[in-house]
Amino acid sequence: MRKHWGGLPRPAGVKVRIIPSADHARIGLFTTVFRFGGHGGISTTGEFCNTLWGVYRKCLVRMTASPFVIQNDWMVTLETPRLILRRWREEDVAPMAAVNADPEVMRWIRDGSVRDEQQTRDGVQAWESEWESQGFGLFAVEIRSTGELAGFTGHSVPNFLPEVLPAVEVGWRLGRSHWGKGLATEAAAAAVRFGFEERGLERIVSITQVGNDASERIMTKLGMRPVRETVNPTCGRRVRVFELQSDQYVTTTR
Ligand SMILES: CC(C)(COP(=O)(O)OP(=O)(O)OC[C@H]1O[C@@H](n2cnc3c(N)ncnc32)[C@H](O)[C@@H]1OP(=O)(O)O)[C@@H](O)C(=O)NCCC(=O)NCCS
Repeated sequence: MRKHWGGLPRPAGVKVRIIPSADHARIGLFTTVFRFGGHGGISTTGEFCNTLWGVYRKCLVRMTASPFVIQNDWMVTLETPRLILRRWREEDVAPMAAVNADPEVMRWIRDGSVRDEQQTRDGVQAWESEWESQGFGLFAVEIRSTGELAGFTGHSVPNFLPEVLPAVEVGWRLGRSHWGKGLATEAAAAAVRFGFEERGLERIVSITQVGNDASERIMTKLGMRPVRETVNPTCGRRVRVFELQSDQYVTTTR
């Protein structure tokens, strides 16, 4: 029985929800309609139809291949004591755009530029595509007590730094009003656990610009260690690469 998790005491409430197959099919279909079919939805009508067809196909394959669905990719939800980590919805775009519009938040991201609502919408769509193609992605991070969107954490492939590939990165970004409460660490630890235990990743990296001390601190608290310092070719800024191997994770979490 694991007592620790990501180098931290394991919060009692952390769990990955797995929803049984029949419900899964219905909920997945409903969620797609809800997420993509709403007013000014993330996709255009054509993409919406494709998405709907994709879900229908997936449900059919799953329901005919096995009476049980082992993992419900559509409805992956992680719960921590203070947070819900979940897939993205149309109504997340505006609060996430507000986070991306804050220069202090964006100071250590690429060249430090802020992003507008359309760029945020494109980003959310790309993150959702990554969930579809890879089975992992960036989670929307929601405050349990208020339902407010705080930002994101989760996994992505760091294509901007080819020298570390193949790799899966864990990252985070929260609105400034949520800093300094341990929320990023709480969220990232749940994502790391999901990556190792639910997705079977063998190594997770995290990449931060030199000077982003809060992020380095989170990496250290997650049990990651620095393995490389280099330059991000897309913006010319120096970055440090941290990593955690699954066997190290198991050792630190037992
Ligand atoms: C990085 C970020 C997610 C941190 O969020 P947070 O919820 O405040 O983080 P946590 O409270 O979980 O942990 C931060 C840790 O860094 C420490 N810290 C914060 N600012 C620091 C600084 N300037 N120097 C050194 N340590 C710092 C905190 O004390 C804390 O460590 P502790 O628990 O040992 O006291 C948040 O600042 C953010 O979203 N920044 C903008 C986006 C970003 O830079 N993302 C990362 C890109 S790699």
